[in-house]
Amino acid sequence: MGDTDAVRGWVRDARHIAVLTGAGMSAESGVPTFRDAQTGLWAHFDPQELATESAFRAHPQRVWDWYAHRRDMIRAVLPNAGHAALAAFARQHPGRQTLITQNVDGLHQRAGNTDALALHGSIAEDRWLDVPRACCRLDALEAGHPPRCPVCGNLRRPAVVWFGENLPADALEAAEHAARHCDLMLVVGTSGEVYPAAGLAFTAHQSGARVVIVNPEPTPLDAVAETCLRETAAVCLPVLLG
Ligand code: APR
Repeated sequence: MGDTDAVRGWVRDARHIAVLTGAGMSAESGVPTFRDAQTGLWAHFDPQELATESAFRAHPQRVWDWYAHRRDMIRAVLPNAGHAALAAFARQHPGRQTLITQNVDGLHQRAGNTDALALHGSIAEDRWLDVPRACCRLDALEAGHPPRCPVCGNLRRPAVVWFGENLPADALEAAEHAARHCDLMLVVGTSGEVYPAAGLAFTAHQSGARVVIVNPEPTPLDAVAETCLRETAAVCLPVLLG
């Protein structure tokens, strides 16, 4: 527990803490991760067939239904003790935490971190696939999988960031600013495989912040970590932040 005690001290003393979360953050809520060998979504599904714009254009119903299924599953789960600890910290220390998440599940927001920077969008929302024309009206959608504009055929798509797509510019800029200016970054439950999100840990390190990893497994981001806590998010965060 020595490392944990040290990190608790860093949390207490930090002027500004950036927290970068990934799918492992929600694992204890019952949301599958992407890259875990047995239970990860990408162990069973090919991301190129489900998480790219070209996959959606080729098989809109298949991709829409897969996201609809995940959305329904996420609606049925609850934020865990890790989400709650982050939300409580933000409430008790206004302005000291920037929460950056790759998760599209909305669990941070439901726990109370309503200003979490959602780098990969939100699975609860959808948007137009192509730039909407005057005929593309939400109040006149043709129901279906996916719903469409009955006039021009423009499709609704999940409002998540797919492989090869740009991240929302405002959220990414705010995240990069936090990574440059924090003095402590907690990296929780991410494999560190997907950029630009993973690069935020390097930015924080290069800018002089301490980086702490919370993950039962090793990741490539361990290279810049001051300490790696091999624990789960729901167990570790309440201890670190409480
Ligand atoms: N607590 C903390 N970490 C955990 C837990 C847990 N309870 N369970 C699993 N992990 C760790 C795993 O060891 C792994 O390193 O969480 C990580 C999950 O990694 P990924 O499945 O790759 O998820 P993530 O890093 O968020 O993926 C990034 O890839 O396909 C995409 O867009 C998707 O946002 C996602 C991005």
